[in-house]
Amino acid sequence: MTETSGNPILSAKDVCKEYKIGKTLLRVLNGINLDIHEGEVVIVLGASGAGKSTLLHTLGMLDTPTSGSVYLKGENLSIAKQSELAAKRNSVFGFVFQFYYLLPDFNALENVLMPCLIGNSVYKAKSKRENTEKAIELLQRVGLGNRIHHRPDELSGGEKQRVAIVRALINDPEILLCDEPTGNLDTHTGREIQELIWELNDRTKKTVVIVTHDERFAKSTECVVRIADGKIVNCARN
Ligand SMILES: Nc1ncnc2c1ncn2[C@@H]1O[C@H](COP(=O)(O)OP(=O)(O)O)[C@@H](O)[C@H]1O
Ligand SMILES: [Mg+2]
Repeated sequence: MTETSGNPILSAKDVCKEYKIGKTLLRVLNGINLDIHEGEVVIVLGASGAGKSTLLHTLGMLDTPTSGSVYLKGENLSIAKQSELAAKRNSVFGFVFQFYYLLPDFNALENVLMPCLIGNSVYKAKSKRENTEKAIELLQRVGLGNRIHHRPDELSGGEKQRVAIVRALINDPEILLCDEPTGNLDTHTGREIQELIWELNDRTKKTVVIVTHDERFAKSTECVVRIADGKIVNCARN
C-alpha cells in the first residue's frame, strides 16, 4: 500500500483555470484539490476535454492557475517568480508527452542530452562525457542500446516514447509527469511503456503522475483520480 501520511510532495489547492474566448469564459479546471505523495503513482483519468492536460501543465508549472495554488513540498509556486519557476521546473519535473516531441534532426542520444544543454540544469555543469555516459546507460536500460544513433524517423512509436522517457529522466527529476504516454501507441507497445513507467517507479521510487483516458491504467495503480468537466469526481486510494 502506498504511504500517504506526511506532507505531500505536490498539491493543488482550489485550482481553477479559465480561458476567455471572445466574451465567453471557459472554466477548464474548477476547484481541483489533490495531494500527491512522494513515491506515489497517481493516475488521473478522464474523457477528452475533461481538463487533464491543463491540470498536468498546472502541476508541472508549465501553466499557472487562474486562481488557487500549486504547492511543491509546501512552497506555494503560484506566487513564485518566473525565474525561480523555470529553475524548479527543470530540476524537479520530467515531462513525457503523447507525441514525444523529439527533435527530428537529432539522434536518440542527442535528444536525450538536450535538457543538459538548457540553463538551470545541474547537469549543464557536468562534463559532456559524464552526461553522455549517463544517457547511454539509461538508453541501454530501456532496451535501446542498439538505437542510440538512430534519428526519430528511424524509430518505432514505442522506441520514440522510450527515448522521450529517458530524456525526461536525464536530469534525475523527483517527479515524472506524463500526458497520455501511451495515447499514440498500439495496445502491446502501450503496455510495454506502461510497464517501463512502473518499473521506474519501483526501482527509483520517483513520484509519477499520469493523465490518460486509457482505463487500463486504472487497474494497475493504487491511486486513481477521475476528473470530469474540470472537477475531481472520484479519488480512490487502495
Ligand atoms: N489555451 C486554451 N484556450 C482555450 N481553451 C483551451 C485551451 N487549452 C485547453 N482548452 C480547453 O480546455 C478544455 C480542457 O482541455 P485539456 O486540458 O486539453 O483536456 P484533456 O487533456 O482532458 O483532453 C478543452 O475544452 C479545451 O478545448
Ligand atoms: Mg490532453
